[in-house]
Amino acid sequence: MSKSFPVLVTGGAGYIGSHAVLALLDAGWDVVVLDNLVTGFAWAVDERATFVQGSVEDMELTERLIADHGIGAILHFAGSVVVPESVSDPLKYYRNNTAASRALVERAVQSGVRHFIFSSTAATYGEPESIPVREDAPKQPINPYGRSKLMTEEMLKDVSAAHPMNHAALRYFNVAGADPDGRSGQSTAGATHLIKVAVEAATGKRDHVAIFGSDFDTADGTGVRDYIHVTDLAAAHVAALEALIARPEDSYTLNCGYGHGYSVIEVLDAVDRVTNRQIKRKFEARRAGDPAALVCDNSAIRSALDWTPKLDDLDSIIGHALAWERTLQDREV
Ligand code: UFG
Repeated sequence: MSKSFPVLVTGGAGYIGSHAVLALLDAGWDVVVLDNLVTGFAWAVDERATFVQGSVEDMELTERLIADHGIGAILHFAGSVVVPESVSDPLKYYRNNTAASRALVERAVQSGVRHFIFSSTAATYGEPESIPVREDAPKQPINPYGRSKLMTEEMLKDVSAAHPMNHAALRYFNVAGADPDGRSGQSTAGATHLIKVAVEAATGKRDHVAIFGSDFDTADGTGVRDYIHVTDLAAAHVAALEALIARPEDSYTLNCGYGHGYSVIEVLDAVDRVTNRQIKRKFEARRAGDPAALVCDNSAIRSALDWTPKLDDLDSIIGHALAWERTLQDREV
């Protein structure tokens, strides 16, 4: 595969973006990172990449970056990702996930960028009627976050039909874990995601983990999710880029997950097993808008891309998240 042009990674200082930057660099790509550092960290960007602080909404800046570096593909991670915040401040989500994406896509098309990869989400499905969820299941997002991402998916479909730019919209399920070599991890303060919360409890940063709901229609009554290791997800982006280049007429919308799920109790049991201690658990009421189970059918990504999961193991996901949590606490971010 020829790596004849550099790639632009927006949000490359954030959790998933910084892992994608590592995967691209490790695969031999030249990488330019654009991040406004609102939730990302400059230190999270590998020093082999060129880092530019700025906004994807700044169309003069993105035009200049594309031209100066001869960018041939964009991986667009920058955006807002907190579901409850999207309910209280929807305009922030339609700005950061929809309008800002539109500005970036416009510059990409006008500047002749041929390939675009977009971070989408399982939240586009809302409460699925059945699991595992296939890509063609009804898209009925139940919050502005999911709607803001779905709108950008739709926009990209129209753009790829009209212009010589193909795209991949990758619908992430529950992303967790950290770089196995300890180079990056989930660093955002005030995290709400289960595995992050659990490793914070395991390292003494929190007193306990709340279990939100024990009366779901699942085997043990707690919520079931499809947890994917962030390094496997990063590898899926490299594979998507290669597919977009190899098949310029094709675009993709693909679930990113392992196709099997774990309950909250199974995750907490695994954290206890990995740490060899018992974190305190407290049963609480369901969180608003939480579906009982969200698990993907991943047959599409397996057949469309040269991608096979390598880290599909809950204990490894937790072990890597834990190792990063210890690094982070030493670093005192
Ligand atoms: N949970 C707890 N206690 C916690 C945190 C979570 O019991 O302290 C439970 C939740 O109720 C849920 C499961 O653990 O059953 C996973 O919750 P997360 O908050 O880790 O993740 P979500 O499934 O809510 O969110 C993920 C992505 C979102 C995306 C959403 C789509 O992180 O970006 O899936 O439904 F929008």
